[in-house]
Amino acid sequence: MEAYLDNGATTKVDPRVLKAMMPYFSTAYGNASSLHKPGRDAKKAMDLAREAIAKKLNAEAGEIIFTSGGTESDNLAIRGAAYANRGKGKHIITTKIEHPAVLNTCRSLANDGFDITFLDVDDEGLVDISALEKAIKKDTILVSVIHGNNEVGTIQDIACIGALCRQRDVLFHTDAVQSFGKVPIDVKRMNIDLLSISGHKFNGPKGIGALYVRSGVKLTPLAYGGHHEFGLRPGTENIPGIVGLAKAAELIGTREIKQMAKLRDTLIKGLLSIHESYLNGPGMKNSGRRLCNNANVSFKGVEGEALLMYLDTKGVRVSTGSACSSRDEGPSHVLSALNVDPECIMGSLRFTLSKFTTRQEIDYTVKATKETVAHLRKVSGLRSA
Ligand SMILES: Cc1ncc(COP(=O)(O)O)c(C=O)c1O
Repeated sequence: MEAYLDNGATTKVDPRVLKAMMPYFSTAYGNASSLHKPGRDAKKAMDLAREAIAKKLNAEAGEIIFTSGGTESDNLAIRGAAYANRGKGKHIITTKIEHPAVLNTCRSLANDGFDITFLDVDDEGLVDISALEKAIKKDTILVSVIHGNNEVGTIQDIACIGALCRQRDVLFHTDAVQSFGKVPIDVKRMNIDLLSISGHKFNGPKGIGALYVRSGVKLTPLAYGGHHEFGLRPGTENIPGIVGLAKAAELIGTREIKQMAKLRDTLIKGLLSIHESYLNGPGMKNSGRRLCNNANVSFKGVEGEALLMYLDTKGVRVSTGSACSSRDEGPSHVLSALNVDPECIMGSLRFTLSKFTTRQEIDYTVKATKETVAHLRKVSGLRSA
């Protein structure tokens, strides 16, 4: 039996997505800038995909910029807004629980002379809106707050943050890489100026993403070249990826979200039946604030990495912290920001579901985790299960 529960790291490409992409590798491979028929066909496919992504966000097609993924979208949003607005101010606000794509972009801007505030969050990972309000200064140009956290699944109240930013005339960017397709987003109603998404987190291909840029928001490009993507992102467009991104977005909706949330709750209940196990992020009573596919649990007295490796031998694929940083040294910056006890940080695992996750996988994962935690506690002699 295998249970792939590392969908926060990446997902399997939906076969219907792959099918939609195939012609753009083999027969309809034109360059979207070419004037001949294959070029026009590529451009048509790209236009339709742009419209589909825009529709999902309640945006206009001309506000969607295709990129290589979440990291590039975050960089373009933050660096692009910082440099385009530096005449207005040099202060940027973000949080302590951002993905490294945002954290390290902000740190690089600090080295370039920008002033960055990293906001605290509460024990469930939520930003305090009044603290954000107090942090906004005269020279604040941008607020960047992650929508759905990649480690603990906390969903921020981005409508409230957006309203505050709009009222204070500050740009608002949200990293929606983990939430897109799993939480309904309406950029107009939520007053969002910039929003990042990535295809491989919702059963689309890797290496493709998008940045929503509200009409009228000025960005300085990261790279220079041709006039692709409204002059914001030069380079020949990745048509198969763009088609796959739009198809994947079309194939995830309310039904899939409900199904994942139900299985997530079964998983959490099963894992919490293990002695001295604790849920990180929003509590069960606040499960509406947790991504429908996330469960982050600490097992006291167990080394998370050892547990991960044992589970791997049983076919259960999970991660410690966020996958992108799980090879890095040091405890999770997200769990530390949530004031999780250091021993619990070391014993934490992230389980992330997809629309393809089955009840059998969940039951098998709970059983394998129970057995492995008991075994590891026994051999370490620290605690009995
Ligand atoms: C919240 C968040 N932002 C950004 C990224 C980076 O996305 P990509 O892998 O498409 O560069 C990830 C990837 O794990 C993520 O979880």
